[in-house]
Amino acid sequence: MNVATTGPLVLAVESSCDETGVALVEGGSRIRSNVVASQVALHAPAGGIVPEVAARAHLRWILPVLDEAWRDVGASWADVGAVAVTRGPGLAGSLLVGINVAKTLAWVHDKPLVGVNHLEGHVYAAWLRDAGQADGPEPVFPLVALVVSGGHTFLVEMTDHLTYRLLGQTVDDAAGEAFDKVGRLLDLSYPGGPSIQNAAGAATRHDARFPRAWLGDSYDFSFSGLKTAARRTVDVARADAGLREPEEPLPHAVVAELAWAFQDAVVDVLVSKAARAAQAVGARSIVLGGGVAANAVLRERLAGEAEALQVPLIVPRPALCTDNGAMIGAAGARRFAAGERAGLDLEATPSLPLAR
Ligand code: KG4
Ligand code: ZN
Repeated sequence: MNVATTGPLVLAVESSCDETGVALVEGGSRIRSNVVASQVALHAPAGGIVPEVAARAHLRWILPVLDEAWRDVGASWADVGAVAVTRGPGLAGSLLVGINVAKTLAWVHDKPLVGVNHLEGHVYAAWLRDAGQADGPEPVFPLVALVVSGGHTFLVEMTDHLTYRLLGQTVDDAAGEAFDKVGRLLDLSYPGGPSIQNAAGAATRHDARFPRAWLGDSYDFSFSGLKTAARRTVDVARADAGLREPEEPLPHAVVAELAWAFQDAVVDVLVSKAARAAQAVGARSIVLGGGVAANAVLRERLAGEAEALQVPLIVPRPALCTDNGAMIGAAGARRFAAGERAGLDLEATPSLPLAR
């Protein structure tokens, strides 16, 4: 990508789920600032996201996050070419907060407004560069992107910028959702993804095995059977350990082994399908994104497959894999450069698909 062709600063706003993010991104890739207020602690007691709580927290935090994003950047509104905002998919109340703030900023500062699909934001995180980071290898088309988050799991082919062909997606739970649900079953702290990764790393036995839903030759995914199998295995393990009361915890070693087996099954399917898709379309890059891409085992195994295929794998650092404003700025800069403009009547589209 020629950085100079993608224009000046884009101020980007992300509020689709449970992170409030504002970023300033230059030339579609260079992060000038990227501030995220996470609501993880707020939703932990419920063990999942409560939509009304999320929307109220976005309202509380979005202006302080905006102020923080401007701090020490050495730039002003005069340098901003466009305001980009996530328009979907996501929680309606959460999306509305970011959209209304972005519209107000665009109107007050007389800047064009650009609507961005949150899912393409996860893909475009692969183009991001930190402020002091040297230019590294960039994604090359055609590419295959695997996006695995708390709300979405899909494989997509891109033959050019902003051009997506959906290869497969989850037919039930998202991968992150499965991590969160199984984390709860194992009495691990919320969110389940990092907790399962940590518990799995401590496993000393690796005998347990969970089923893989291959779904034939398709690139679709299914994780709900895995969750059911995990529930059954936990029940059996509790009975074997002589635990009758719900508050009696499973022994650490058993939790660790089951966490390992679950992670192994999820990673196995994700990595196999992504590698097969990359081979099938003759991909010149593989991109991994979404919150679950923070998983070290997934990153490592996909890197191994990519190396075997001699295709470069691009995985943003973990903080750019989870929801943030910079990824919306990267995708927004592309849409802005392509001439896209949203009106002040831009609406939240909670179930916006990636590929039209
Ligand atoms: O992309 P994200 O921040 O939010 C959505 O758009 O959904 O993803 C959050 C998801 C959660 O389900 C969380 O458990 C999962 O990403 N996650 C992980 C890890 N870190 C976060 N899953 C597996 N391993 C991790 N290390
Ligand atoms: Zn996301």
